[in-house]
Amino acid sequence: MNKNQAAHPNSLAPYWMPFTANRAFKKRPRMIVGAEGMHYLTADGRRVIDATSGLYCVNAGHGHPRIVAAIRKAAGTLDYAPAFQFGHPDAFALSSRLAIMAPGNLDHVFYASSGSEAIDTALKIALSYHRRRGEGQRTRFIGRERGYHGVGFGGISVGGMGPNRKVFGSMLGGVDHLPTTYVRDEQAFSIGQPEWGEHLADELERILNLHDPSNIAGIVVEPVAGSTGCLPPPKGYLEKLREITHRHDLLLIFDEVITAFGRLGHAFASDKWGIVPDMIAFAKGVTNGAVPLSGVMVSAAIYETHMEGPEHLPELFHGFTYSGHPLATAAALAAIQVYEDEGLFQRARENEPLLAETLMTLKEAPGVLDIRPIGMMCGIDLAPSKEGVGVRGFEIMERAFHDHDLYIRVGGDTLIVAPPLIATPCHIAQIRDKLAELIHRTAAS
Ligand SMILES: Cc1ncc(COP(=O)(O)O)c(C=O)c1O
Repeated sequence: MNKNQAAHPNSLAPYWMPFTANRAFKKRPRMIVGAEGMHYLTADGRRVIDATSGLYCVNAGHGHPRIVAAIRKAAGTLDYAPAFQFGHPDAFALSSRLAIMAPGNLDHVFYASSGSEAIDTALKIALSYHRRRGEGQRTRFIGRERGYHGVGFGGISVGGMGPNRKVFGSMLGGVDHLPTTYVRDEQAFSIGQPEWGEHLADELERILNLHDPSNIAGIVVEPVAGSTGCLPPPKGYLEKLREITHRHDLLLIFDEVITAFGRLGHAFASDKWGIVPDMIAFAKGVTNGAVPLSGVMVSAAIYETHMEGPEHLPELFHGFTYSGHPLATAAALAAIQVYEDEGLFQRARENEPLLAETLMTLKEAPGVLDIRPIGMMCGIDLAPSKEGVGVRGFEIMERAFHDHDLYIRVGGDTLIVAPPLIATPCHIAQIRDKLAELIHRTAAS
């Protein structure tokens, strides 16, 4: 292609789309031009129901007027404030709000813009914390197979998704992984937390013996693994991880990029299980997806350990141009108020059994290998078609959008249902019916 073609405003070529099959998209684009409540809008005037809250972020539904108004106001008042050495009121107001919402003594927040940045920030804070305490040898991290922690080098290192790591070299050194908590033969069709699998947390002891706990900086896990297909933790598993990490004085970092702000019916998944980790990474739902914002909640101990040394120097040599951006903090303050005023976390708890029961009716549909509902999220594993892994999933995603007015996130042959928390029983039934038809249509004959 020559430069003239690339500059053509209607050319699809110049945009290298993320985590997207670019060539297939550009042959038959799935273009979204607007959004409203539970729906995306297409250029040809269709209303497409959103079964995955965008990418698990639009918890209060699209275009919420109070969030939109807050962003507009912020844009007209303070477009940008330097994040380093200067502050603006909303960043402090939001931090106070989050400190009250977060569990235990997680009273301080460090901002970034994406989940990936939040995770890399959490890893760096862990290293800095240990060093300040005179334990600079604690440099190793432990993640988990099938974990997703974004795409930064830190995140892919502690993450456990082969394709996201394969071509990116040696990444962070000194990282080990817990086994996945998902074993289909033992757990298939569990509603909520599987009964089987608590003992998988004991693998942590084995890994600690290998490296010695004194060399470990922290453990990073998603309370419910989201991107690899919604994998709820076995009963007792997270509690055991907390107990082991406490015993060896290791930092437990929860990646709540998906689970925070209502997906499991609570402000944080940590509240659901009454577990207080040492750090929580959050993103997505904090602004209802409307403006990029992420952050890391840290314990008072971690923060206080840093508040020493010369007062004219930054205590942590880390931060982003857009940390605590005014539009993002305004959006977050509005979104959190909407969650509270509309009782959306409570609503998620009320709708949890309905979502599970409705989706479980797909159990007998052709080639359904597992259904894993928890909170307002659910993974549905399908048998791959003969053409190969992921072909059926891709076909469902395409057909859903073009022919069934349904948007659904698909990973391989796993469908991810995680509708906005405003979904009514009628929306949930609609999503189920559309999926039933798609699963039948794509079944091997
Ligand atoms: C658990 C988890 N951590 C981190 C990330 C990365 O977030 P981002 O895409 O905003 O960098 C995601 C994204 O889906 C996620 O689900």
